Amino acid sequence: MMNMNSAEAGDSLIFSLNETNDNNNTNASASAPASLPNMPPDSYQMTSEVHVTFAPQNHNHTSYKSDRESHSGHRPPRSPTRGCKENSPLLGPKSDFEHSFEYNSFPDDPFFHETVLAAELAIEANVCPERIYQGSSGSYFVKNTEQKIIAVFKPKDEEPYGHLNPKWTKWMHKLCCPCCFGRSCLVPNQGYLSEAGASLVDQKLGLNVVPKTKVVRLASETFNYSAIDRAKARTKRNIYNRVPSVGRHFNRIGLPPKIGSFQLFVNGYKDADYWLRRFDSEALPESTAKKFQHLFERVVVLDYIIRNTDRGNDNWLIKYEPASTKAGSSQGDIEDAEWSMVENPEIAVAAIDNGLAFPFKHPDEWRAYPYHWAWLPQAKVPFSTEIQELLLDQLSDMNFVQDLCDDLYDLFKCDKGFDRHTFEKQMSVMRGQILNLTQALKDGRSPVQLVQMPVVTVERNKSTVGRTRADSEIFTQSFSHRAPFFSWC
Ligand SMILES: Nc1ncnc2c1ncn2[C@@H]1O[C@H](COP(=O)(O)OP(=O)(O)O)[C@@H](O)[C@H]1O
Ligand SMILES: [Mg+2]
Repeated sequence: MMNMNSAEAGDSLIFSLNETNDNNNTNASASAPASLPNMPPDSYQMTSEVHVTFAPQNHNHTSYKSDRESHSGHRPPRSPTRGCKENSPLLGPKSDFEHSFEYNSFPDDPFFHETVLAAELAIEANVCPERIYQGSSGSYFVKNTEQKIIAVFKPKDEEPYGHLNPKWTKWMHKLCCPCCFGRSCLVPNQGYLSEAGASLVDQKLGLNVVPKTKVVRLASETFNYSAIDRAKARTKRNIYNRVPSVGRHFNRIGLPPKIGSFQLFVNGYKDADYWLRRFDSEALPESTAKKFQHLFERVVVLDYIIRNTDRGNDNWLIKYEPASTKAGSSQGDIEDAEWSMVENPEIAVAAIDNGLAFPFKHPDEWRAYPYHWAWLPQAKVPFSTEIQELLLDQLSDMNFVQDLCDDLYDLFKCDKGFDRHTFEKQMSVMRGQILNLTQALKDGRSPVQLVQMPVVTVERNKSTVGRTRADSEIFTQSFSHRAPFFSWC
């Protein structure tokens, strides 16, 4: 068995596997899946290249379709953010997303599609998204026409690195102290992709702890726009009203839509911090504690794979709903309820705020960005057989891991600042995390032991691009060794 702890800090390298199958085999069941390496401890002292052979027929058809791919053939109803083709000076040169005539369409996910549509209709009816003031950037609660919050929207250009970030403190920070601004291991101004990517990983692995998040475009009076954009929109509106024959030639009237992450809102949840304190003083019933442990493990797995650098206990939510107080009780009543009297309580978790993940290198020079859940008592419990059964087969299958990377590629490449080299580095970190996690699951380790494993990167050979796969692939594994300068978050 591979023992990651046996690796010396600073070892460069190595691994992998030798799987061969018939390259031209087009029968899925006849192809043995490649698996992640499983090497004896002393292998770490060796340097070798490993060839991975993929089953060829699965490569081009994964179950996940990028939003853009999935749009074809479906024309949604008119709305301010549909069918917009005007070039926007605010958003710079057009990316693939921006060329799309049919964004905000999710035929594979009717509920999500309807929610986005409800948001657009609400904005048309002047029920506009509302800024979340406690947030670090421009984040908005999106409502439906009944004023009910249905989603959280985070526009790219209002992220901490975005040029329209509404927080002047962030702006000052960036201006006066650029070297300390942001997280040097993260791709700047791609938080919205990290949010959507976390949801993609969550769905692909069947974790179901991230509220569905996808890339969406919305325009609203309440977003932060430059004065120029507002003036331009006003002028067009005036022309349209006064000289309709001219105004009809405009492709869009109104403010330019913003690209960003759109996450479904979950109801009845509170910050994990709140409930964790309660659970400290009043133990959960045994079956609920077990269920909570399983959910907790899912958050751990998600964070570890995407290498989340911002998982404080305010960035995941817990819903705890005692059964006896579910019907007809207000939230206040629920909180005051006598827990010992409660039967079959319901518990759920939601991992939100995933915008600071997918680093292109391990955080190793200034700050460690620890996972705050590692200090919880639940983190000392070895991974359950439930999570082993859910994940081990998937994560041990190199085809599955590469499919995941390919799905992320389809998502990330649509950003106008996309850089393939940086993306490959992000995936090298993620593969390394998956490698460690797989080993920890196999060995029945705990989350605390997992985060103590030496970090690894697994780099794919440079000649392959995106979904293209060579019959045989080479991966190189390296260990990172530098300890962080300081480790508070
Ligand atoms: N999907 C969601 N469902 C319910 N509440 C949410 C959701 N996303 C965010 N919130 C609430 O909004 C607050 C701020 O959101 P967050 O994503 O943490 O933004 P920021 O990046 O500004 O910290 C959270 O603390 C939480 O209370
Ligand atoms: Mg937050």
